[in-house]
Amino acid sequence: MIKQLFWAVLAALAVTGCKQPNEQLLSPDGNLLLEFGIDNGRPFYTLARGNKLVVDTSYVGIEMADCALGIKSSINGVSRQSHDETWQQVWGEETNVRNNYNELKVSLTEAGQKVLNYSIVFRLFDDGAGFRYEIPEQGDMDSIVIIDERTQFNMASDARAWFAPWDYEFYEALYMPSPVSELDTVSTPLTMEMNDSLYVTIHQAALTDYAFMNLENVGETRLQSYLSPWSTGEKVFARLPLTTPWRTIIVGRTPGDLMLSRLMLNLNEPCAIENTDWIEPGRYIGIWWSLHRRDETWNMGPNHGATTENAKKYIDFAAKYGYQGVLAEGWNKSWGGDYGLKESEVSFTEAYPDFDIAEVAAYAREKGVSLITHWETYGCASNLEAQLDSALALCERLGIHAAKTGYAGKPFDGKELHSSQYAIRHYRKVIEEAAKHQVMIDNHEPIMPTGLQRTYPNLMTQEGVRGQEYNAWSTDGGTLPMHTVTIPFTRGLAGPMDYTPGILKLENEKRPGIRPQTTIAKEIALAVVLYSPLQMSADMIENYEGNPAFEFLKSTPATWSKTVVPEAKIGEYVTVARRDRDSDDWYVGAITGERNRDTELSLDFLEPGAKYRAKIFADGPGADYAVNPYPLTVTEQEVDSKTVLPLHLANGGGAAVIIKKL
Ligand code: NOJ
Ligand code: CA
Repeated sequence: MIKQLFWAVLAALAVTGCKQPNEQLLSPDGNLLLEFGIDNGRPFYTLARGNKLVVDTSYVGIEMADCALGIKSSINGVSRQSHDETWQQVWGEETNVRNNYNELKVSLTEAGQKVLNYSIVFRLFDDGAGFRYEIPEQGDMDSIVIIDERTQFNMASDARAWFAPWDYEFYEALYMPSPVSELDTVSTPLTMEMNDSLYVTIHQAALTDYAFMNLENVGETRLQSYLSPWSTGEKVFARLPLTTPWRTIIVGRTPGDLMLSRLMLNLNEPCAIENTDWIEPGRYIGIWWSLHRRDETWNMGPNHGATTENAKKYIDFAAKYGYQGVLAEGWNKSWGGDYGLKESEVSFTEAYPDFDIAEVAAYAREKGVSLITHWETYGCASNLEAQLDSALALCERLGIHAAKTGYAGKPFDGKELHSSQYAIRHYRKVIEEAAKHQVMIDNHEPIMPTGLQRTYPNLMTQEGVRGQEYNAWSTDGGTLPMHTVTIPFTRGLAGPMDYTPGILKLENEKRPGIRPQTTIAKEIALAVVLYSPLQMSADMIENYEGNPAFEFLKSTPATWSKTVVPEAKIGEYVTVARRDRDSDDWYVGAITGERNRDTELSLDFLEPGAKYRAKIFADGPGADYAVNPYPLTVTEQEVDSKTVLPLHLANGGGAAVIIKKL
């Protein structure tokens, strides 16, 4: 308590010069302090850690079609509560998640042309803050139209931020560094290094029927919400009572703290699916890379990828090497090609004649493998909605428990943004309906994730990241190594990424110069570093057998009991160690950007006193992502929690380690 008061006093001193706050809220450990006040009718908050201000006076409010909140507000009352519980993830980066916060609910009255009641609820955790607006039904008002939300994040210093532009190509942008003061309008998660022991990420949680929040720079280091609009210009159509999504601010002392924060999940509703036994995280392979390389085609023709015969080969391979799933893209009568279908005519139930879906699904079932169906809408979401019942009924009939969805290329139904309320409603509908038919979802071109998988754990993984596909065809020659050492601290904080690592044959004769810009050791290490509960080994199967690196890919789990981040520097390097959910074995992935790196990795995360055998897949002599990507050495040694493992990571390289308990 004394410590808490000490920090509160220091933090209050730190915010001198700001408006006088009315309320204070401390995190359970006393290290974070959130203050709330009213400045001339305008509600504001600040956030500090210890004696350091993180977010300076930031005004909050909502502008509606015919009135506004946050201009003439006064406090009506406050209530407080605390919460401490530990819940279990169906799958994830650890089993147990502690949900521990102190809450402050401020009830407000807005005296404008209309008198309105509303509340702002703040939750302060040890690792950051979440807050949201609540607008009850009142008077003759039962619905509202939101023109924009005016939620500010006034950063206390001109921190270095890693940003992606707002609504850029379904979040498939590169994250670039920039001072906060020079940002334009950006997407969240927005990660900032305020100093070398203060890292902050702004994002959102529980986005279910609202617009996505982007951040607009409204002067110096002041960021303000900019909601993705409908094509008609409004942002949100809502019935009352409305609770908005949570606005989240993670605060960590290291970049690794950001990766280990479960604040976003804690701010989502608990699991809504009663029986989750059918939800199975796992590895998958698929008819996919060959399509992006142009070795095979999505459409039926002489080089059609998804034929019955080819799919069976993949299923045999999956059964032999312990892969749970096989994806078959291009199985259905789809856009373009011989059938000449339009986006709105794509079928999610009818296969091309050379793909017998019933036979393939039955073959997969016999072999204990799950077929993953593919629904590429080309943005024509209404076409999928119209067929959703029949597509899911087909899955149920054939024992298919996973679907990969896609919204490539076009706005939703020709006009709405992927991040609009329109699209968000669609994504959620697909997840909820799929759950009823016991179908897991791998969603490409998604809305940026906000933790909905806590409520619907059949929402397994999503893209919304510049993934492997770019390394097959991007005219820049393939994404540079800094990308994979940046996304764990940016996009990765929003949830699992279907990046699809695991390419072992890098070159493509048809597109000389375009390839994954990696060494082999780094490529396999990504299977640990980039978390996904459905983790693809993305290469064609003929490139796996006989390759020593394949051993790592085929044995890496997709769900864990514990995760630690021993070393990390945003945009430069990261090492992640994870303990298997079903054993005491650990898996380590260490990766670097363009620069090589020598490190001594302490294995102090291992159980003290226990003995383990480590198999180390490392960059071999002369390895270099740009000129010599293939050298790989595989060595073994006994280790324990006192071992310090020297690792050499080549330029653009990495190391992957399996640590088996003896
Ligand atoms: C884009 C997806 O990200 C990719 O995985 C898929 O193969 C293509 N769309 C075609 O649906
Ligand atoms: Ca994509």
